[in-house]
Amino acid sequence: MTANSSHSVLFVCLGNICRSPLAEAVFRSKAQQAGISASVDSAGIINYHAGKRPDPRVLEVGQNNGYSFENSYSRQVVTADFNNFDYIFAMDTDNLEALISLRPKASPAQVGLFLSLVEHCDESEVPDPYYGGIDGFKHTLQLIEQASEALVEYLREPK
Ligand code: 4NP
Repeated sequence: MTANSSHSVLFVCLGNICRSPLAEAVFRSKAQQAGISASVDSAGIINYHAGKRPDPRVLEVGQNNGYSFENSYSRQVVTADFNNFDYIFAMDTDNLEALISLRPKASPAQVGLFLSLVEHCDESEVPDPYYGGIDGFKHTLQLIEQASEALVEYLREPK
């Protein structure tokens, strides 16, 4: 893999209306700014919110910080994702365990925790902000920005 190759990245959380659509929007923006070609998507472990737009608090915090959520609608993870994406990043360990149990044995995708990319991070998971206030969403955005920047740097390096 070289810095010029195209990458495919899927972000996964529980409902695909808070953390993973935010990660999709942030990473897409940072990859574009860095000139990294990447196909980016997000999905949820559950299908409860399928077809829904991101949570209004995600839209507020994200758009206030310059991120775009055009064409962002919740969908559930499908088996084909494990063949279609090079990297699948889970927001927390419950999501990661669910992904590992869904993953076909022959899948070439690298599956891991998104925050594991950030060196010296105090947190290992992007906490679920759904049941809290707007400050939780701002904190979620900060963590996702750090991890997205780390992912951009990782993908810049020839492998
Ligand atoms: P997300 O947040 O996994 O970051 O999209 C959640 C959204 C909805 C629910 C849980 C978490 N829910 O239980 O409906």
